[in-house]
Amino acid sequence: VSQDKIAGLPSEVLLQIFSYLNPKELCRCAQVNSQWSQLAMDGALWKNILPVRWAQGDWSSVPTNSEDVEDIVQDDDEGTYVTVDEDADFDESESSGYSDERDSYEVSRSVLRIRREAKMLDGISKYLIPMVGRGVETLMLSQSKGLNNAVVYRLLSNTPNLKHLDLSLTKVSDIAFKGFGKNGTGKHLKYLNLTGCTSMTDATLKRLSLAISAPLVNEEPNGETIEGQSCSRGGCGRYSCGVISIDELSKDKNGKPKSQCAIRTVSSDSYAVHLNHTGQGTRPGAGLCRTGRQRGGVHERHSVCQGSSRAPDTSYRTESCCGSVNGSDDAHRTSCCDILISDRSCESIDHQTVNQSSRLEFLSLAGCYKITDAGLRYLATNGGQRHLKHLDLSGCANVTSAGLNQLAAACPSLDHEEFFYCDNISEGPYANTASGCQNLQCKHLVCCRSGE
Ligand code: FES
Repeated sequence: VSQDKIAGLPSEVLLQIFSYLNPKELCRCAQVNSQWSQLAMDGALWKNILPVRWAQGDWSSVPTNSEDVEDIVQDDDEGTYVTVDEDADFDESESSGYSDERDSYEVSRSVLRIRREAKMLDGISKYLIPMVGRGVETLMLSQSKGLNNAVVYRLLSNTPNLKHLDLSLTKVSDIAFKGFGKNGTGKHLKYLNLTGCTSMTDATLKRLSLAISAPLVNEEPNGETIEGQSCSRGGCGRYSCGVISIDELSKDKNGKPKSQCAIRTVSSDSYAVHLNHTGQGTRPGAGLCRTGRQRGGVHERHSVCQGSSRAPDTSYRTESCCGSVNGSDDAHRTSCCDILISDRSCESIDHQTVNQSSRLEFLSLAGCYKITDAGLRYLATNGGQRHLKHLDLSGCANVTSAGLNQLAAACPSLDHEEFFYCDNISEGPYANTASGCQNLQCKHLVCCRSGE
């Protein structure tokens, strides 16, 4: 195929072709011209980031689980990689400095590999992730020796749609996890493996709890935020359904701020007035308000307040917080927000039903011995962990039955066989059905019975 024919291919076709390339090949394509650069950096092509593997010369983008990784990576006594990949790229510049000092042979290949991994991680976090981060769903960093807090922080801060995060057996600490919650990172998380992150404390669990229970904000393809999915206090002191601030919603279609939000009560006994989301008049309604219908090109939301004295399906035409949405003149309608007129009504909302709670299904904190009951309490708050099935607290010898029971009560989906905690806790939850500590025979992970 001639170069001209390739250059003439439509972007959609090129994108499809690029989807068959590995990360290394994509990076090369990105250097061809600006069009290819833009396509190669499409977030859809970078769903899985696997730097540990890539640094070993395996450029596959298909994630494996931690167990598989353990099969190919082993630790020697100094905690460095000892596997040798003869086909891996080798950065000669890294060794030349050592050869100048005539001691290159004293530097093990594993150390060089760690240096290369660290370099790759630095480059990925600084240059790649800021461009493709929104498309990233999986970050596999298990057993990375080249990882540091700054890299993890940058990675987390730029991956708002992250679903799968594996940081097991790494040296990261609380500082790294300050990336949770940045730009929304954490609210899509389903799998989180922090096994062996021994420096981690309750501070990370607090941050994690806030991040994973943050309400979703749907976005239209152009990136415009259209609605939130939970109740939170709006800037005007009343509850507003949606994480979008009143100020954000009070912008006109050109993005200019509208006048100050003003909540007007429809009637004194109204419990809820809710979203007439009318920005373009034809947007599909989704999310928070459980019922709705298209009417006159405008998506109307219905009451979400169970405590309302009105029929649940009563459609309130809101008086709007930010523009005229009442009446028939759609042309004057502007984007608005859900507003609950009375605080009492907001309290009556079942926050669980508005999709506010965590989506986490797998959480391993095995060997994170610094966490305490206080940390578990953070996880039990903010709606709890409704979807959590797997919870590994093996080696967490500083938690007690009180903390465990509180957390277990907030995890209704927990599979007892996948619930692990210290054998020495006699009055823990599901004492007869939960599993015991998994760290008893593990030399890498902390256990209060080590050495017995
Ligand atoms: Fe107590 Fe392992 S932490 S048995």
